[in-house]
Amino acid sequence: MQNHDSKAPFDPRFCRNEREVESKLIVSCLLPALGYEINMWHQEKNWRHFRLDFLTTANGQTNSQVIIEAKHPDEELDNHVPQLENYMLKMQVDYGLLTNGREVRIYQRQTGQIHLKFECFGYGIEGKIAEIKALIGKDKLFAAQSQHIIQDNTTMKIIAVYHNKGGVGKTTTTVNLAAAFANRGKRVLIIDLDSQANTTFATGLINFGDEEKDDLKDHYIYHLLRHSERFSIPEVVRKSRFSTHDIDVIPSHILLMQHENELNQLDYSRMILVQKLQAVKDKYDIVLIDTPPSLNLYARIALITTDYLLIPSDLKPFANEGLENVKAFVSEINGFRKMVQRQPIEILGILPTKISSNNKFKEGTLVNRMKNVEERYQIEVLKDCIIFEREDLAKCIEQTLQVGELEMNDPRSIFDYKSSSKAVEEFEQLAAVIHQKIGFA
Ligand SMILES: Nc1ncnc2c1ncn2[C@@H]1O[C@H](COP(=O)(O)OP(=O)(O)OP(=O)(O)O)[C@@H](O)[C@H]1O
Ligand SMILES: [Mg+2]
Repeated sequence: MQNHDSKAPFDPRFCRNEREVESKLIVSCLLPALGYEINMWHQEKNWRHFRLDFLTTANGQTNSQVIIEAKHPDEELDNHVPQLENYMLKMQVDYGLLTNGREVRIYQRQTGQIHLKFECFGYGIEGKIAEIKALIGKDKLFAAQSQHIIQDNTTMKIIAVYHNKGGVGKTTTTVNLAAAFANRGKRVLIIDLDSQANTTFATGLINFGDEEKDDLKDHYIYHLLRHSERFSIPEVVRKSRFSTHDIDVIPSHILLMQHENELNQLDYSRMILVQKLQAVKDKYDIVLIDTPPSLNLYARIALITTDYLLIPSDLKPFANEGLENVKAFVSEINGFRKMVQRQPIEILGILPTKISSNNKFKEGTLVNRMKNVEERYQIEVLKDCIIFEREDLAKCIEQTLQVGELEMNDPRSIFDYKSSSKAVEEFEQLAAVIHQKIGFA
């Protein structure tokens, strides 16, 4: 009575269809042998438009999850590798197991690709459990997860969102990426270094009706830069009002414009933020800095302070030509950073923004533009993270709230304005890719 006894060895000849591969090999044999109890995995797990056969849980840490895909015994595994790869890359999951009962393969995600790490026959799998466990066993992956958590909490990462061309989507990127990171459980601080104060507006901090009620002008980024002895970050930080998550903001103000010469005279103004952020490095995981469309002092301070640079661009000719300025600026700032013993800025890439979703454009002009920009400027274009032009993204900032007679600004992140918007998926994807690039996963 082989295979009716749960302790009998697995025999692929008893699997006549995909369901039986799932029940006899995965549920009865593999998952328990690898240490996954019944509450540690989901069957038929939906993720966006994907439907995974199995996904192990790990408190939301994708680096310690495993996607398991079972196929009909007559299917060749080679034909299903691209699908598994797609799942692993899109979901940023590190391990995938693929089987048709006859064969078992384990893939690992590394540097944007998946690699075959292990393969064996289904027949005799009991003799291979130790090897499989060492790769994707619960104990192995949960131990990796706790190491990641420690690392996460100790390394605050700073990302500047910059392009010297105006209107390319810097502010839209900053605020919605902040919301996407907060959704992923990160503690986020936004710094607005632009005197247009659009980020301060978009995060819901400019909701006073008139100038007399302006409660920002006495505590904003200028005070931190100018009166370094008197002000610390917690004293100028505000709780934003654009997201269901707690996201802190160091606001800007239109008056910042008047102070550029004065701050330029102060040698230390360039390094203040670096120093001030050190004092809150255990409080935040991610700091996002929004910058002005210029090569001014504030852009300079942002690039001196940051670890990483994200360059939003609509990829139109003026924005592309502006990339020469960005490159020269980065290289000049790197010279300064070297003097003060800071590592060079790490460029995350050019983020295509406000891109037309017209199919003809996407498949023709856009593909060429991305390729040309990469070749010409030698900066990676984040082709998997395109932010398309969508009305929702413009509208979410323009929301208002009626309070008695008054109409108040009530901007929302795209996540809070319309969770079904395609832009939500785009920002989730962007956060996932950056998450990986900056070494969180
Ligand atoms: N993906 C998008 N789809 C539709 N509208 C967008 C998109 N991104 C930005 N916008 C709109 O384009 C305008 C400029 O965007 P944004 O303010 O983010 O650019 P910016 O680079 O920060 O501008 P500035 O250089 O003036 O600071 C805004 O009205 C914004 O709502
Ligand atoms: Mg802006």
